[in-house]
Amino acid sequence: MAREFSTVGVVGLGTMGAGIVEVFARNGIDVVAVEISEPALERGRVTLTGSTDRAVAKGKLAAADRDALHERVHFAVGLDALHSVDLVIEAVPEHLDLKQRIFAELDRVCRPETILATNTSSLSVTEISVATTRPNQVIGIHFFNPAPVMKLVEVVRTVVTSPEVVADVEALCARLGKVDVTINDRAGFIANALLFGYLNHAVAMFESHYATREDIDAAMKLGCGLPMGPLALMDLIGLDTAYEILDTMYRRGGRDRRHAPVPLLKQMVTAGLLGRKSGRGFYTYERPGSPVVVPDELTPPATDAALADGARAITKVGIVGSGTMATGIIEVFAKAGYEVVSVTRGAEKSAMVCEAVKTSLNKGVVRGKLAEADRDAALGRISWSATLDHLADVDLVVEAVVEELSVKKALFASLDEICKPGVVLATTTSSLPVIDVAMATQRPADVVGLHFFNPAPVMPLVEVVRTIRTSPETTATARAVCAALGKTGVVCGDRSGFIVNALLFPYLNDAVKMLEASYSTADDIDHAMKLGCGYPMGPFELLDVVGLDVSLAIQRELYLELREPGFAPAPLLEHLVTAGYLGRKTRRGFRDHSHR
Ligand SMILES: NC(=O)c1ccc[n+]([C@@H]2O[C@H](COP(=O)([O-])OP(=O)(O)OC[C@H]3O[C@@H](n4cnc5c(N)ncnc54)[C@H](O)[C@@H]3O)[C@@H](O)[C@H]2O)c1
Repeated sequence: MAREFSTVGVVGLGTMGAGIVEVFARNGIDVVAVEISEPALERGRVTLTGSTDRAVAKGKLAAADRDALHERVHFAVGLDALHSVDLVIEAVPEHLDLKQRIFAELDRVCRPETILATNTSSLSVTEISVATTRPNQVIGIHFFNPAPVMKLVEVVRTVVTSPEVVADVEALCARLGKVDVTINDRAGFIANALLFGYLNHAVAMFESHYATREDIDAAMKLGCGLPMGPLALMDLIGLDTAYEILDTMYRRGGRDRRHAPVPLLKQMVTAGLLGRKSGRGFYTYERPGSPVVVPDELTPPATDAALADGARAITKVGIVGSGTMATGIIEVFAKAGYEVVSVTRGAEKSAMVCEAVKTSLNKGVVRGKLAEADRDAALGRISWSATLDHLADVDLVVEAVVEELSVKKALFASLDEICKPGVVLATTTSSLPVIDVAMATQRPADVVGLHFFNPAPVMPLVEVVRTIRTSPETTATARAVCAALGKTGVVCGDRSGFIVNALLFPYLNDAVKMLEASYSTADDIDHAMKLGCGYPMGPFELLDVVGLDVSLAIQRELYLELREPGFAPAPLLEHLVTAGYLGRKTRRGFRDHSHR
């Protein structure tokens, strides 16, 4: 028989604690909510009221249920109020000595059978537990932010946590409507161990002016379908909390430099820029605690202003190549009203590409997304050619041929001879340095990267890659073209992986290393990222879709360029590729897809 929890205590009503109180009270459990002082208690009360009022306004909670929820919560200053609860969850700041002090005190105040849980993200639950006389009743219950929304709970057992306590807490999570993964006590558990290297890397990109905060966030949201960008997420987590988590993970997790907090973080925390909770972090918010971002001095001007910033007029576009990307890009430009010249290596290839574009446009018509007249107009705008000479009078060339530097360089050298002055020359390369391609021409200032995502007609993101020779006009033109295509263009420097792949693939590689270390299973890791962080796919699902060979190649490039030891490809990834397990395309990768 699982233990009944009728009253729980929550210590610390900050970002996490207030949300945890709401989770319990929503599920009919009485809560004693404890803070260190009256003002802090009041802040916690305001957070809870704000959150439940928003839920009522959104129609997700009935007003009567909200009132009943509030009646279940008893607020108090000091731990003494917790003398008769069945379970305590501690959610105070991420400092070991503070948590140990609180657990020693809880051990004295609470009944002997009370379970004591910590919501720590990165500290050792074991070290916290030994501050009590009942380490076998101490456990980690790691909720995700915002606690009322995110489905995942990581249940962390130490070597001394009793199996009954683990089972009781797992049953409780089910009662709360949460999905739990039960794991051992390791820095960052599953989700944060995979998340924080990525978040810190994004901060480093921002700090080094590699891209703007808006572009970094838009890239990850639109390129990977994440619910929010990394810098907005840092603001939600709280920069002080994020700093402590990174610092602890660095020290506990093998001194991986990727977890050494980026210096800017420390400066922001010292300056009181803590994120949403203080009203200012990477972004500025309407007021402390508000999720509403307001413009500040870093907010970029709208695209119209970029147009005024010297963008050239583009009406006729040449697209070179006959693969998946070229086909999609032809469709995108033709649909947006540009006159398109498609150049392939022969009439046969042109006919194939033409068929593929027609098929895709027809699908749009069948699905009711495109009028027949618009389909016909789009097709009417495309001319098909097998010679580059037809690109003499275009305003923009988009190259999407095979991913080989020698081929691309030869092509750009030809374009340089054929195209009129002032044309923008763009490459869609996803892994080669754009500057190498640019230097094959006499006009590197006019060369830029336009990294479309697959499938181009669907994916809303384009990375605009400027080299150290790209002119501001060329960049402005590329960005304006993206806007005219209905895409979001994000501008970044010419480094391996640009924004999206540089942030995404090390995380995928880390997931493989975690699996390889037998810390958790592929299913639990996928669950953790989907339910804890709102990712549309778990890392192993995504790796099987992208292809393990493609992923390994990208990871190798990143490792070779940045020489970051933490980027070294996971041996398991290499072995799977060697074995021919490349993912869905070979019906086997991390999972067996032969029956699907
Ligand atoms: N922020 C996140 O996204 C997130 C997610 C999961 C877990 N966590 C973990 O949750 C814990 C809390 O983090 P947070 O972001 O909510 O921090 P926070 O700074 O927002 O809130 C901490 C609260 O604890 C209170 N407090 C401090 N000392 C206290 C004491 N002695 N007694 C009672 N209350 C006290 C503070 O007044 C404050 O309200 C940390 O261990 C953190 O790692 C955070």
